[in-house]
Amino acid sequence: MRINGKRLISDLEDFSLITATPGEGVTRFSYSREDIAARQRLKEMATENNMICRTDFFGNMIISPKKSKGTILFGSHIDTVKNGGWLDGIYGVISALEILRTFEENKKQHDCTLIVFAEEEGSNFGSTMTGSKFLTGKYGPEKLDQLISDNGYTMREVLQKTSFSREKQKEELIDINFVKAMFEIHVEQGPVLDDEGFEIGIVDAVAGMKVIQITYEGIGNHAGASPMKGRKDSFIAAAEAALAIDEMICSDPEQNIVGTIGKLFVSPNCSNVIPEKTVFTLEVRSEKNIKTEATMEAAKKIIRETAVKRKIKCTISDMASSNAIPMAEDIKSTMKKIARKKCLKYKSMSSGAVHDAAMMANHIATGMIFVPSINGRSHVPEEDTRKEHLICGTQYLMDVIQEYI
Ligand code: GLV
Ligand code: MN
Ligand code: MN
Repeated sequence: MRINGKRLISDLEDFSLITATPGEGVTRFSYSREDIAARQRLKEMATENNMICRTDFFGNMIISPKKSKGTILFGSHIDTVKNGGWLDGIYGVISALEILRTFEENKKQHDCTLIVFAEEEGSNFGSTMTGSKFLTGKYGPEKLDQLISDNGYTMREVLQKTSFSREKQKEELIDINFVKAMFEIHVEQGPVLDDEGFEIGIVDAVAGMKVIQITYEGIGNHAGASPMKGRKDSFIAAAEAALAIDEMICSDPEQNIVGTIGKLFVSPNCSNVIPEKTVFTLEVRSEKNIKTEATMEAAKKIIRETAVKRKIKCTISDMASSNAIPMAEDIKSTMKKIARKKCLKYKSMSSGAVHDAAMMANHIATGMIFVPSINGRSHVPEEDTRKEHLICGTQYLMDVIQEYI
């Protein structure tokens, strides 16, 4: 069965226009106006193609043909980072939808269901893979009151404003005990496939990550009248800790660990006031849980010691964590067999980015496919993949899925 490549690309282009930052990449946070518009469009596409669309309390959307038993899941997410790219997440969703439509057009009976996970990027609450964490029970209901957005709303409050929180959920929309396999296709987001000329990546394992938030509180004061000596500048402390952590991680490149301080708020954020309070995040990722853990502990030590040295107050809170996880062996070998049969240039590789597939892999046999990212750019407006690679990846997923239906 052949997917419709033209339709796939044109749908992806349409969704790239549903953004809060036109001309500056795609910004579509879960539960935002743009997210609701994208959900509405997906719902229309589903119903136009005889499918039913439901949403659980956390905002995970489930799209399936009326007769599907839902034993095979596939999908990804539609939310983005701020000023992100046009393919991260949505590519996996539109690919899955394209495959469902192709089945429908060919009157093919199957048991596949598309799942669109909510809040994968953690753009609202600082915790990645949130929808899949709730779905798989990693997060219990108490987490709804613990996850807090940058503007101070709990996840429960944000969800209560959405229409799906009012839909009566009489039963679990997906019982993962009945699911046989889960598939996610995604752009690689790194340079490996593009640099080495591969068409397809078969994911071996997804890296684990830990995220913390640090609050440094010093003393604010006049930037002109306060001598340098004796200042308690919370930003300078954050800068010193950041450099020391970066140096620690870079000192051992063999370890393949990455660490990033990607979010930083300086308060009061005035050019002529010494920053009283600085809040920043640190995330650490690697393929080995023990290394992620040890690196995060060493970073926390640096953060606390820097605070003591600079005589400022320090609070550290754990924001999110997920373990590194391998994909299912039998799915990987089926994928390789099909790639060989179709004469595709493929490479087995690990994923440095996290994905909902990693959460699902704790419970269900799961497989992931990558397509090349041009110049390895992602989470930026420049994120791109050659159209022929996007089409080839979806057709390949279709070929793989047919082994399971
Ligand atoms: C999600 O894209 C992540 O890896 O942070
Ligand atoms: Mn993604
Ligand atoms: Mn992403």
